[in-house]
Amino acid sequence: MQLGACYYPEQWPREMWDKDIQLMKEANFNVVRIGEFAWAKLEPEPGQYDFQWLDDAIGLLDQAGIKVILGTPTATPPKWLMDKFPDIYQRDKFDRVRGYGSRRHYCVNNPIYRELTKTIVQAVANRYGQDERIKAWQIDNEFGCQDTTYCYCEHCLDAFRTWLEQKYGTIDRLNEEWGTVFWSQTYRNWSELILPAYSVCDGADPEYHGHNPALVLDYKRFSSDAVVRYQQLQIDLVRELSTKPITHNLMGHFPEIDYYKLAEPLDFVSWDNYIDYPWDQPSYRKSAMAHDLMRGVKNQNFWVMEHQSGPCGWNVLADTPKPGQLRLWTYQSVAHGADGIVYFRFRAARFGAEQYWYGILDHDSVPRRRYREIQQTCAELTRLAPILEGAQVVADIAIVKSYDHLWSHTIHPHNRNFDYTRLLQAYYDAFSSQGYNVDLIGVKGDLSPYKVVVLPAFHLSDPSIKEWISKYVASGGHAVLTFRSGSRNWNNAMTGQTLPGDFRELCGVEVEEFDSLNYGRQVEVNINGGSAFASLWCDILKSIGATTLGTYSGEYYKGEAAITVNRFGQGQAYYIGCDLDEHAMPELMGSIAEMAGIQATPISVSDDGIEIVRKQKDGREFYVVLNHNGHGVNIKLDAQFVEVISENQLDGELTIDGYDIAILSPK
Ligand code: GLA
Ligand code: ZN
Repeated sequence: MQLGACYYPEQWPREMWDKDIQLMKEANFNVVRIGEFAWAKLEPEPGQYDFQWLDDAIGLLDQAGIKVILGTPTATPPKWLMDKFPDIYQRDKFDRVRGYGSRRHYCVNNPIYRELTKTIVQAVANRYGQDERIKAWQIDNEFGCQDTTYCYCEHCLDAFRTWLEQKYGTIDRLNEEWGTVFWSQTYRNWSELILPAYSVCDGADPEYHGHNPALVLDYKRFSSDAVVRYQQLQIDLVRELSTKPITHNLMGHFPEIDYYKLAEPLDFVSWDNYIDYPWDQPSYRKSAMAHDLMRGVKNQNFWVMEHQSGPCGWNVLADTPKPGQLRLWTYQSVAHGADGIVYFRFRAARFGAEQYWYGILDHDSVPRRRYREIQQTCAELTRLAPILEGAQVVADIAIVKSYDHLWSHTIHPHNRNFDYTRLLQAYYDAFSSQGYNVDLIGVKGDLSPYKVVVLPAFHLSDPSIKEWISKYVASGGHAVLTFRSGSRNWNNAMTGQTLPGDFRELCGVEVEEFDSLNYGRQVEVNINGGSAFASLWCDILKSIGATTLGTYSGEYYKGEAAITVNRFGQGQAYYIGCDLDEHAMPELMGSIAEMAGIQATPISVSDDGIEIVRKQKDGREFYVVLNHNGHGVNIKLDAQFVEVISENQLDGELTIDGYDIAILSPK
């Protein structure tokens, strides 16, 4: 198990380093991440490098048995560089320069910046490429963070035109696919093409109401690809000079970069996990799904490269983690597949924008409660590594998460309250709250390991996707499709087929009409005599072979089908025509899981806030039980277990304290 912290020796006087590293050693650390923001220290003047301080830090860490994840420093080009080449700054959709003063102030498509990237990355990789004290490389830092995925500069425009030419081949084809005949938008040649910058219909809203949705989707795809391409530039340079593994720190649910593509050339994925920070309400379920996505984008275990270790904030602070929570959250990461945990940061910075982002230590370096909790957690994880490290999450259920779908839904979200990620989360929670593990997988991923595959609002389709899902169901799988499925083609045009388009035969239904629910209107749905509510969308279904599982009990479509199931080959295709409230969802998904023959967990999950992750290693299964509640909980067990940390024998019951965890191994 790799355990450690993000450390910024360049931000602290040299006299403090020995003591810092001593504390790291005593905290049972074996790795630190350094260097990712240190360009101005590494190249203080153009072409003049200073590696002495970094050599010293790496040397001291090595003496303490601590290896280094070395970041390439391209997220913070120095002031001298920006003054010399101001063209590198991004431009926003109003053509304003996004100037100096924070970080990530560069455009990935800028040719000069690409050259300068080569020079600094080569300099660093030359120096440390063969150094055995380096464990791995981190490329740049959090691509896309600080809203830097979308740029509207002339280099981006050029690159976008090239990208489109490669995709469509001829301008006629582009015009046809985009439907530019609408509003006389026909382009005569590639040089007429635009970026979806500020236009008449936009108003003050940052989203793109008036632009052609096909143009915007391609721009979003292009912008994501441009980041992937920039990462590749660095990966190629590092690989030439080093055999060490390469990673990048992703950001969980961050929506702008196709993480399947970003993860593909990396040796392993890592990500930055902040559960309680000022910009979102904390939710252990969101965090659970983010972990599963980070595992899913490469279908392999991962690291947490920045793990919350204190109260977080830039200008305002979120809550302070309560005693036990740092340990609990660390175990949540490990349970979902983390083989490395690197806490952010070793000590809170005295200067700069992140003075309030507390680390393991406060500004005064005194080890207190958080240090002791992390120290204990790391000692425990080191002891348990033979059981936990490399263990696999066992999931019978997959949810398909697609960035193309996410982007298209963002452009035209159907209903003002529709949110693709929230819909995914609703399906995720419906299963995970009942103790079922869920994998997140990409479009055309391998479906064979799964008994149930859910494709929420899977509206973009094409013949190969139709075949992918149909084959799965025909050979015995259970697919769950929802409202809006099959309503568009891959280039974001509405389909001309009767809905659900490519999934009409598979689901054995036609969408006769739909109703988008606004201003708090709800429609009651009758499922097996029980009552549920839709508050977003209702597809009014006509069976062409499917069996009805639920009907509407209100509105002019009272009595019409809302939820159906269709036998297709050896399998079943469910069509869920409406959204469902948080009580109905787990019930319906539970019954689908049962129908698909998925075995229920032997640990009964009656309490909200209890999370169960089923794992296996070397053919042995075990369960990690996490209590996210502040209070203790009694859990009924339908089998005999040993609790691994305490070595207690459990007979029918587990008592678990607030914010505590248990690892249950079958007897
Ligand atoms: C991100 C970054 C870090 C730091 C933290 C806290 O995850 O990668 O450099 O900025 O957030 O804001
Ligand atoms: Zn640009």
